[in-house]
Amino acid sequence: MINFHKDHATLVNVALMGFVLLSTGVAVTPALSMQDNNSPLPDMPKMTLQEQRGLNVYVSEGCIGCHTQQVRNIEMDKTWGSRPSIPSDYYYSKKRPDIWHNTPSLLGSERTGPDLTNVGVRKGSEAWQMLHLYNPRMVEKASIMPRYGWLFTEVDSTAVKPDDFVLSVPADKLEHPGHKVIATERAKDLVAYLISLKQAPLPQGVAPEDFIATPGANGKPVAAAVAGAGAAAPAVDGGAVFSSVCAACHQPDAKGLAGAFPPLAGSPVVNDKDPLKMVDIVLGGYSARPNYGPMPSQAANLNDEEIAAVINYVRSHFGNDAPPTDAATVKTQRAVIAPETASK
Ligand code: HEC
Ligand code: HEC
Repeated sequence: MINFHKDHATLVNVALMGFVLLSTGVAVTPALSMQDNNSPLPDMPKMTLQEQRGLNVYVSEGCIGCHTQQVRNIEMDKTWGSRPSIPSDYYYSKKRPDIWHNTPSLLGSERTGPDLTNVGVRKGSEAWQMLHLYNPRMVEKASIMPRYGWLFTEVDSTAVKPDDFVLSVPADKLEHPGHKVIATERAKDLVAYLISLKQAPLPQGVAPEDFIATPGANGKPVAAAVAGAGAAAPAVDGGAVFSSVCAACHQPDAKGLAGAFPPLAGSPVVNDKDPLKMVDIVLGGYSARPNYGPMPSQAANLNDEEIAAVINYVRSHFGNDAPPTDAATVKTQRAVIAPETASK
């Protein structure tokens, strides 16, 4: 008869066996089977070496402390992606940075800042990402995100090399007049990674999981979510689209940011009698002048109604005065300029 009170060696060995059995069953086996049961989506671009290095910068700078990368299957997460996240979305990020570090848990649990699952679609501009990391307050006036100044160096303008990324920092914001701010390799890697963050489409014919409507106080879905087909779709608010998409670059007062993003207030393109040029810019992106970076296309980001609404809003606010366009015109132009987004 074993007496655990007297035989300490047996006590320790039995406890150890119990521990090993439990951890194998509860943690190790499920982890191994999950690791083998995960493949990338067919249309998911492979992560490049630069993006992988950028991911490691993202981890080491502690961005995970404020940003999640998971679209949960609940209604309030709809703003962060077109479908709830699935295990395959993390396929390429499951590499360990090195032998000393564990696989990073990019899902995160704190959302002090926005979810970044799809940020490459929302903020696909290298110029914006660089300025935002250099000083978030330059592009987002009330931002509480810390600045990451150590990812950049200020050099004399004669020392700029051709392959340097020069930030469009307004002249009055420079510490030393005549200097230029250039991105370090770490900043370039990080921005390449951020821009690569886009939800890959599911294979043809596979329906995404539904978002669960937020229940009201009595446990029933709230009225707006169950109103269904009977209710008329509310008109799109162009001002809201402007604030959430365009204002990041063109600024909330549409006056732009000298040297980085042009003003839309008083712009001849915006005030052109024919709205077509502006429709084409929003759908196809725009790179017309060397002193501004390129504007990324917003076609994958906004549907026809939203684009028409935001264009009409800009053309009739901020002192602008030009005739409106409509969703049908946007649809026709989309078929030519961005046919791959026709399902929008
Ligand atoms: C203290 C919390 C905090 C930390 C740490 C932080 N952020 Fe943020 N981040 C925010 C907040 C708040 C916003 C929203 C305001 C803004 O756009 O600046 C934001 C916005 C962003 C956006 C724009 C998202 C969008 O949808 O507009 C990006 C991209 C971003 N952060 C990247 C990063 C990266 C990369 C790091 C690490 C180098 C980082 N953040 C670290 C709080 C944080
Ligand atoms: C990521 C930053 C960014 C976002 C977001 C953005 N733009 Fe732009 N936009 C630019 C830049 C940069 C230019 C200048 C490009 C050039 O001239 O080479 C520009 C140019 C324009 C122009 C031409 C203005 C002129 O006078 O030449 C219009 C019109 C315009 N944007 C409208 C919009 C609208 C409407 C939205 C929102 C749906 C929007 N932009 C979102 C960066 C942005």
